[in-house]
Amino acid sequence: MKKIKHTVYFLCLFSFLFSLTNCKGDGKSEKTKENVTTRESEIDFLTKEDYGTTPEGEKVEQYTLTNKAGMEVKIITYGGRITSLKVPDKNGEFENVILGFDSISQYTSDNPYFGALIGRYGNRIAGGKFSLDGEEYQLPQNDGQNSLHGGDKGFDKVVWTAEVPADSTSLVLTYKSKDGEMGYPGNLDVQVTYTLNEDNSLDVDYEAETDKKTVVNLTQHSYFNLTGDFDNTILDHEVVINADRFLPVDETLIPTGEIRDVEGTPFDFTEAKIVGKEIEAENEQLKLGLGYDHCWVLDDQSEDMHFAASAYDPESGRFMEVSTTEPGIQFYTGNFLDGTLPQQGGDGTYAKRSGFCLETQHYPDSPNQEKFPAVVLNPGEQYSSKTTFKFSVK
Ligand code: BGC
Repeated sequence: MKKIKHTVYFLCLFSFLFSLTNCKGDGKSEKTKENVTTRESEIDFLTKEDYGTTPEGEKVEQYTLTNKAGMEVKIITYGGRITSLKVPDKNGEFENVILGFDSISQYTSDNPYFGALIGRYGNRIAGGKFSLDGEEYQLPQNDGQNSLHGGDKGFDKVVWTAEVPADSTSLVLTYKSKDGEMGYPGNLDVQVTYTLNEDNSLDVDYEAETDKKTVVNLTQHSYFNLTGDFDNTILDHEVVINADRFLPVDETLIPTGEIRDVEGTPFDFTEAKIVGKEIEAENEQLKLGLGYDHCWVLDDQSEDMHFAASAYDPESGRFMEVSTTEPGIQFYTGNFLDGTLPQQGGDGTYAKRSGFCLETQHYPDSPNQEKFPAVVLNPGEQYSSKTTFKFSVK
């Protein structure tokens, strides 16, 4: 215990000295680090540092959550984005398994939602249009004719307010989305809580309230590569999706309305299968998605936490399990990554299929598809959703 305390004092002193050396005294100093909480055990930290500013001059902060086992998650207030998530491999070596960048300017420049919180509506809405009580709402058509991930300036591109509850390793992010913002009706108060647990799991809890009938579908858009080396593709990861059915799409990636059995198709991930096994198979749906870019209908449709999917990298032994209260999961294999974006901390770029997303959510285009579970939120109701990403080794 004494030894731990000494280590902690040393770390504190170090981080204090570090903050001093980074303070240039010209008012422009950026990276100051601050210890926000030190839990009882004195070995868990939640630190905060400046992360620069957006082109509009808004200040962005980065929070680091660390648990006793050494798992570490970094989150910035811009888009509530996870910039790094370090977990051990089977030899105990910690590496980042999330695609990210080095600086705020890269996050504010065009990129495919790296690490971001997505809202007000995750995934696509056909023609960028939907109606509620006979009134039609027009959203930005930022994906061909469709609206994708909340429009041009969705929740991934706004600065969230951060709070750290005392004695916790939770980070609470809030955002007020105004009535009419990105075309959506109703002032929406959104709260997303990231909690790092001692069992190497990360909870993402979503809550929202509106003052006018609206639609809500929130998700997390991290790209994972469990090898920890972003020069690798994710094609050798073994994936399981707890779903007997998926949603076929049209040529603009809007669900056709059909709910199709996965059995006998490349979409069958009911048993562990490597991603690359059938991704290039002759299949009309794989052609449309340029790979996997579809929503699976989870077998468990309850609002209780249920197992949704897992991914395993046999080489490193890293294993990730995703559980959720949501009815669907979008499995996207990074088909549009094209080697133009720079890797974090290295010289390489993110090539096609160097990351995959497992986005828990309601189904795409639900506001226009009556047979899909409803995404309407009324005043007085509470939107509530939870997803857990749990890491271990096998
Ligand atoms: C979608 C992809 C899209 C990507 C954005 C995913 O959630 O399913 O079609 O390209 O987000 O980069």
